[in-house]
Amino acid sequence: MRVVCAGVFVLVASMASAQTAAEKPFVPVSGQAGKDVVWVPSPPDMVNKMMELGNVTDQDFVMDLGSGDGRNIIAAAKRGARGLGVEFNPDMVALSRRLAQEAGVADKAQFVEYDMYEYDISKATVMALFLLPVNMNLLAPKFYNLAPGSRIVANTFGIEGWEPDERVTLPPASECESWCEALLWVVPAKIAGTWSMGNGTMTLTQEWQMVQGTINAGNGSQPVAMGRLRGLDLSFTSDGTTFKGTVGADGRTITGTATAANGTTTAWKASKK
Ligand SMILES: C[S@@+](CC[C@H](N)C(=O)[O-])C[C@H]1O[C@@H](n2cnc3c(N)ncnc32)[C@H](O)[C@@H]1O
Repeated sequence: MRVVCAGVFVLVASMASAQTAAEKPFVPVSGQAGKDVVWVPSPPDMVNKMMELGNVTDQDFVMDLGSGDGRNIIAAAKRGARGLGVEFNPDMVALSRRLAQEAGVADKAQFVEYDMYEYDISKATVMALFLLPVNMNLLAPKFYNLAPGSRIVANTFGIEGWEPDERVTLPPASECESWCEALLWVVPAKIAGTWSMGNGTMTLTQEWQMVQGTINAGNGSQPVAMGRLRGLDLSFTSDGTTFKGTVGADGRTITGTATAANGTTTAWKASKK
């Protein structure tokens, strides 16, 4: 009889503890382990600043690699964008889905349990990220290959060699204590090569968004200086003239204006050879 009673007690106790475990919601803890980086959430002011810097609109498809509790993707969805968070931790994925549901944006904010290094990001128009430099450096070639004009916004940590186009430090009123700088990169068009330009030739090299080269025309060879791309928009100076132009969607033309030192502005065009 005693043995039976003890058995029943153990069974009831273990059923009760299983039920408590099933009912206990998962609560993430800042600093908890992650596959390639721990979970530390971006503070709300940083999330807002990243959305603002990335100019996220209802036209965008926003992705977060290592999406944690889904806050960047949920914020993007609240601005009308479609979003996809890629997160390795299944508990965080379930939590993100629940939070998206509670925020009323589950139709736009979606989450997959996947390794961020393996996931296809080619359709993203905005990446919203909080990763370590080592992660950012490994992912940089994929970011650089996104469609020109796509925006990458990140909390604090950057990419070796690829200077951000903008940096914004959160104001003191935000009470941000650490990781308080939002960074923006605009994916540049790829324009390295030789271009026909009027009666001359322009030869360009490109490193990330920075452009250098020479223009060979009637006045000899002149260096291309301070060349810079922001998406499809190009600017540089050569022989005292400021050139501004827009790269065509097919990447084979550049059209714009050239303003000489005396203020005279003329149209210019280049075609890829
Ligand atoms: C610093 S947190 C950033 C969370 C969120 N993006 C934010 O801004 O609040 C990094 C997240 O990446 C996840 N993570 C780490 N390695 C990963 C991997 N290989 N694939 C997908 N997620 C990963 C972690 O579980 C963690 O939730």
